[in-house]
Amino acid sequence: MRKIIIGNWKMNPKTTEEAKKLFRKASEIKTKKSEIIIAPPFIYLPLLKSRKIKLAAQDVFYKQEDAYTGEISPAMLKSLGVNYALVGHSERRMEIGEDDELINKKVKAGLKAGLKIILAVGEKQRDGEEFWKFLKNQIKSDLRGVQKKLAKNLIIAYEPVWAIGTKKPIYPGDLLETAIFIRRTLLDIFGRKIALTVKILYGGSVEPENAREFLETEGISGLLVGNASLDAEKFKKIIKETDK
Ligand code: PGA
Repeated sequence: MRKIIIGNWKMNPKTTEEAKKLFRKASEIKTKKSEIIIAPPFIYLPLLKSRKIKLAAQDVFYKQEDAYTGEISPAMLKSLGVNYALVGHSERRMEIGEDDELINKKVKAGLKAGLKIILAVGEKQRDGEEFWKFLKNQIKSDLRGVQKKLAKNLIIAYEPVWAIGTKKPIYPGDLLETAIFIRRTLLDIFGRKIALTVKILYGGSVEPENAREFLETEGISGLLVGNASLDAEKFKKIIKETDK
């Protein structure tokens, strides 16, 4: 099974030229064992083309058209040939104040429109046992009412907030435990057969040095890479780990 490696560029790089250059370098990476997806800022999406790399939007709105200033609809992404959208990234939850109710609407609208939705979830702190409850509630709220038949287009990106951009990734043992927990939660929601088809990725301070141990963790189908995806060499090294 090929691993999914997503480069989340966040609000980078500053210019179109830099974006094209970074994308070109990513498209030159040779890999047999991974599927590369780049999530650039919206305005770069129409400019980046490659047969090898798929594109993801970093967010998507829950209406298809009408008077919603500043928003981008699932239909608009589809018409550009963009088939993936990230929803619920912790930076949007925390900086912009997106809550589970809004994220749930986006997940449902995106899936209904035929997008593959990468839903980012993760606890803010990992101490005591309370965070398990938080994580379960978050996943259940974000997926409330999602039709079973659409769950095949759902990817869960587990990104503990405390591990994002901190150079302090999760311990692989803790990741394994959490992947099992997420799978169980999906089982409660969708039932066994469908829950087993949903891919779970890890994100949070992924670097070339630690990528392998996360990729080898049972139940983890790939990585969501932030900072290191802006460095063409590092991103390449991370992808090369899947081929070893
Ligand atoms: P990071 O970001 O790799 O820089 O920690 C991951 C993410 O936010 O998706």
